[in-house]
Amino acid sequence: MDDMTARAQAIMRLNDRGAYTVPTSGLYPFQWNWDSCLSALGFQHFDEARAWTEIDTLFAHQWEDGMVPHIVFHRPDDGYFPGPDVWRTGCMTPTPTPTTGITQPPVAGFCIRRLVDRAADRALAETRARALLPQIHAWHKWFYRHRDPQGTGLVAILHPWESGRDNSIDWDAPLERVSPEGVEPFTRKDTTHADPAHRPTQGQYERYIRLVQHFRDLDWDNARLHDASPFRVVDPGFNAILVRSCTDLAALADDLGEAEIAARSREFATRGLAAMESLWSEARGQYLCHDRATGRAIDSPSIGGLLPVFAAIPAPRAAALAARIAHLGEGAEYMVPSHDPAAPEFDSLRYWRGPVWLIVNYMIADGLARAGHGVQADRIVGDSLRLIRESGFAEYYDTHTAEPCGGSTFTWTAAMVIEFLTPISRPGDTA
Ligand code: GLC
Repeated sequence: MDDMTARAQAIMRLNDRGAYTVPTSGLYPFQWNWDSCLSALGFQHFDEARAWTEIDTLFAHQWEDGMVPHIVFHRPDDGYFPGPDVWRTGCMTPTPTPTTGITQPPVAGFCIRRLVDRAADRALAETRARALLPQIHAWHKWFYRHRDPQGTGLVAILHPWESGRDNSIDWDAPLERVSPEGVEPFTRKDTTHADPAHRPTQGQYERYIRLVQHFRDLDWDNARLHDASPFRVVDPGFNAILVRSCTDLAALADDLGEAEIAARSREFATRGLAAMESLWSEARGQYLCHDRATGRAIDSPSIGGLLPVFAAIPAPRAAALAARIAHLGEGAEYMVPSHDPAAPEFDSLRYWRGPVWLIVNYMIADGLARAGHGVQADRIVGDSLRLIRESGFAEYYDTHTAEPCGGSTFTWTAAMVIEFLTPISRPGDTA
């Protein structure tokens, strides 16, 4: 085993709490939804059973209505804000463990298909996948029922944290409309663990918490939240992940003889892909977010508009995205910046407003390779590994200087490195 793989595995073990991993100790001391699913891919290379446990633990805390929460608060920890006392979600899960009341990008369908396709222990994979299949399907149905009440084919996020791209420039305008008035006094903890210049601003945090209070006042009733939320945004990246997961779940359901789940999942994916066309911007050469509260596009060139290559978008769209990514590559030392460096709001250090994230690199590289744009995919994989060599296993990196930002010894960064270094199969083989 090479040294980088050994270091990556050691980080995953360091953050392993038995049946789940924390993204990094201190800054994020609980289980996060999409971190866990993507980290399972890394575990598979050296502990296949542990990979399945990671996802099982997450889904053991699925809400009765089908939602899978963005954080599971397994053990009390005062080092994080906002904790369970702020969320107060009540008894929505079958377990007494508290969770948050919002969700995160649904990568689970994609991840379990990949785990099954590469399984060394086929019997284990089949048993685990068969149990998870209806749970993941219930989550997908939850999205289309509660986050697309008008049946447009596209789902909305109701809180910036749901996107996984917490403080993206994409959310600036819609978040402005969330008045911080009435926000309860609070003390942030994130800025005690990480450089405040790498984190969201105080004004953003007040609005994040105000939204939580708003949903809490509605008793976390998902039948009411969508229409009542002042923040309702359609994110092309989020929708592409959902479409990819539905597509992968359909393929898996076919293999496991679950015809009904296969048919419904395929239907979701087909409608989602068709609807995604409405988010395309010819002027930007990429997809854009749509503000459902105003009915207008959000003209913000972020990585959320490049991520659709992860889904089976039409070939000309994939080619246009590959060209856009190639263009960004001329101005960035390390790909892929989370926001166009030429945009005035770009911030090379502040979280999702410019820095590079390896998990997004992984999904974009996978999509590019599947669409036949191997040169761009290889550049992204190469840049990702250079970042690790130069700056270690950070949460994210400056696209120009490779400066490591946010938390360190980061679980999903390590998992992606293991994926990049020891592909069991080349991304695209599961197409
Ligand atoms: C941050 C990221 C989010 C991630 C979480 C835990 O909130 O924006 O995507 O899931 O940290 O790593």
